[in-house]
Amino acid sequence: MSHTIVILGASGDLTSRKLIPALYSLYRKGRLPEKTQVLGFSRTAYSHEAWRDKLTASTQEFVGDEFESDSWQAFAQHIFYQPGDIENAEDFDKLVVTLAKIEDSPACTRVYYLSTAPRFYEPAVTRLAAAGLASEAEGPRRVVIEKPFGTDGATAHRLNEAVHRAFDEHQVYRIDHYLGKETVQNLMVLRFANAIFEPVWNRNYIDHVQITVAEEVLVGRRGGYYDSAGVLRDMFQNHLLQLLMITAMEAPVRYEADLVRDEKVKVLRAIRALSEDELCQSSVRGQYRGYLDEPGVAADSRTPTFAATRLWIDNWRWQGVPFYLRSGKGMSCRTTQIVIQFVAPPHSLFGNKNKHAQFVDANRLVIQIQPAEGIQLHFESKVPDGGMRLRMSELDFRFAQDASGRLPDAYQPLLCDALAGEASLFARSDEVELAWDVIDPFLASWAAEDSPNIETYEPGGWGPECSTRWMRDQGRQWFDTCPVLK
Ligand code: BG6
Repeated sequence: MSHTIVILGASGDLTSRKLIPALYSLYRKGRLPEKTQVLGFSRTAYSHEAWRDKLTASTQEFVGDEFESDSWQAFAQHIFYQPGDIENAEDFDKLVVTLAKIEDSPACTRVYYLSTAPRFYEPAVTRLAAAGLASEAEGPRRVVIEKPFGTDGATAHRLNEAVHRAFDEHQVYRIDHYLGKETVQNLMVLRFANAIFEPVWNRNYIDHVQITVAEEVLVGRRGGYYDSAGVLRDMFQNHLLQLLMITAMEAPVRYEADLVRDEKVKVLRAIRALSEDELCQSSVRGQYRGYLDEPGVAADSRTPTFAATRLWIDNWRWQGVPFYLRSGKGMSCRTTQIVIQFVAPPHSLFGNKNKHAQFVDANRLVIQIQPAEGIQLHFESKVPDGGMRLRMSELDFRFAQDASGRLPDAYQPLLCDALAGEASLFARSDEVELAWDVIDPFLASWAAEDSPNIETYEPGGWGPECSTRWMRDQGRQWFDTCPVLK
C-alpha cells in the first residue's frame, strides 16, 4: 500500500533544508516504505516540475556529497505540488482531487506535515478535517505538528483542543527534533539496556545534573521570531525538558509509545512548583552584547538569549538532586551535553587536590549529544611514576566509531516513524501542556515589573557572569568544556 506525505507550507525553509533532504536520504538507503510520494502545498504557484527543480538545487546543497543524480531523479518522480492557501477552504477540496489522482488507493497511509508558520496550525487542521481529509474511514491519516506548540500553557491547551476537534490524539505527532537525534535515543539505551548504571542513577550517588545546550550562533535572520520567543520558549520548553525527562524517567515496561510517554509525563508532574522568591533564586538570564542591533529585535528588548534554571524533581529517586538546565546563543562553542555529577568520595585517602572545589575530584559521566557524539566517564587514577598523586582520567566512547558514513539527521528517524505510525519519539498532548506548566512561572516572574535588569554578556564565552556566580554560591561549578571533535 502506498504512503503520501502532504507538506503544508511546502515552499518554506524547513522543507528544503530538512524534510526533502531527509526523505531523499531515506529513499537512497531503501528505508522509505515502497511507493512513498510527497505532495507540496503552499501559496507559491509552482508546477510539479518547477518545484522539483527548486528542490534539486536545495537538496544537493543540504545533502552534500551524499547526493547522487540518478537516485535523486528516481526519487523526484514521486514529488508533486499543488498550489493552495491554508485560509481557503476550496483549495482543500482541490487537494482531495489531487490526492485521488496521485494515490493508487484511498486506503493508503497519509501523513500531513504542518511546516507552516504556527499561526496556521489551527486553520490547517480545521480545514483538513472539514474537507474529510482527517477521517480514517479508508486508511491511516496522521498529522505532524512542528514546534512551537503554543507560546504558553493556555495557548497550547487551546491548540490541543482545536487539533482534537479535527484529529484523534492517536493521529497526532508533535515533533521535537531532539528526540530524533541518535545520541538522545542512545541515552535511553544507556539507561535501560545496561545494568551497571541503574544502581547509581539516583540521589544516593548523584549530587546534581547539568543539561547544557550551548550554541555559538547568534540570532541572525530570526530576530523577528526570536524576540517574541526568547530562550525559554525556544529551547527549554521543548528540547531541554525532553533531555531532562529522558535522564530522569523510570524504565517503561515496554518500549511502546504510550508507556514511554507515561513515564516522561510522570517526571514533569513531579517537578516542584516554586514560589515567587524561589523562582528568582532558581534562575539567571542574560542577553548577548549586540542582540539589540539584530534585525527584527526591538531596540529596548529584554528578551533573554541565555538562561539557566534549577529544577527539583520531587520523587523517591531524585529528592534533593538539583537539575540545572542552561542554554544560550553566542556561547563559546556549540555543545549539547548532559553532565551527571556524582558525589565526592566520603573520605579522602590520598589528600584532596583542591579543597575549594569539592567536585573537581568526583566522578562525572558526560553524555555528549552533539556535535561530539559520545560518552565520557571521568574517574581518578594515579599519576604514573608520581607517587600517590592523582589525576582525573577519562574513559571515552565515541558513538559513531563503528558506523559507516555520517549519522542521520534527526528528521530521518522521525519521518520514518510518522510513516510507520510509531509515536514514541513524539510529544503527547499532556506532555506539551505540562512542559509549559514548568516554563510559564519563570516567564511570568521575568516579565514582572520589579524583575531585575537583564545582564549583558560578551558573545564567545559561557554566558553572563551571574551564571558562574550563581553556581559558585551553591558550591558547584558549570562544566564549561568545549568537546574535542575527532
Ligand atoms: C530550534 C531552535 O528548535 O533548535 C533554534 O528554534 C536552535 O533556535 C535549534 O538553534 C537547535 O537545534 P540543533 O539541532 O542545531 O541543536
